[in-house]
Amino acid sequence: KNIAESRIHESLDELRTDLADYIAELSEAFVKERGYFSIVLSGGSLIGLMGKLSEAPYIKTVDWSKWYIFWADERVVAKNHADSNYKLAKDGLLSKVPIVHSHVHSINDSVSAEEAADDYEFAIRQLVKTRVVSVSEINDCPKFDLILLGLGQDGHVASLFPNHSALNEREEWVTFITDSPKPPPERITFTLPVINSASNVVVVATGESKAEAAHLAIDVVAPECPLIPARMVQPATGKLVWFLDKSAASKLEDS
Ligand code: 6PG
Repeated sequence: KNIAESRIHESLDELRTDLADYIAELSEAFVKERGYFSIVLSGGSLIGLMGKLSEAPYIKTVDWSKWYIFWADERVVAKNHADSNYKLAKDGLLSKVPIVHSHVHSINDSVSAEEAADDYEFAIRQLVKTRVVSVSEINDCPKFDLILLGLGQDGHVASLFPNHSALNEREEWVTFITDSPKPPPERITFTLPVINSASNVVVVATGESKAEAAHLAIDVVAPECPLIPARMVQPATGKLVWFLDKSAASKLEDS
């Protein structure tokens, strides 16, 4: 098996509570250890599944002022556009919790995809220099405390789609694509080296439509199988945990 841990939940409500607990515990541990918590969000259903964080007890117990917030991927649309991952997170979570606005590192929406990717990488470099974001011991990549990823039906994570050349990017931390198979076509995304340098990676998948992709990512051993992007999420020294509901876990072996 390809994973350190998979947590399969009977209900979405149970998954939501476990996910909120997990994030809150990591936040507490990193704030204690280094005074900051660098957390990377994705789009899709993930934000809704993190929603309990804006409720009791988390709203009071989490040290929100220490959170530094990033995105694993973003669509090249205005920040107030319905397709914006930033807007999704703002409306669903960030506007409901006492974060520090200057700690929210959203992607520039007023430049080209290429420039936005470069700007984002530059911004992250500055935060690595000051160690607000840790640095990997094995390469010079940022080592985010936690990267949260959703799972596409086709096995994509962030905006890394099957068979796309962005999967092969080894130099850049942030890249852009203009041909996303899932609209909108222009996107900015963290690359695999950054994802795989994180201290913690969490992949969240719910619903029957994710069952096949979860199976291919978790159970199947290359080379006899298609190497889907989610299968390439293999933190070098960090911890990988999958949060699944029963439907998404329904095609897993031994489940
Ligand atoms: C995006 C998301 C993407 C998402 C998956 C799963 O920009 O499309 O960041 O990576 O996490 O597509 O989305 P759902 O959870 O909504 O199925």
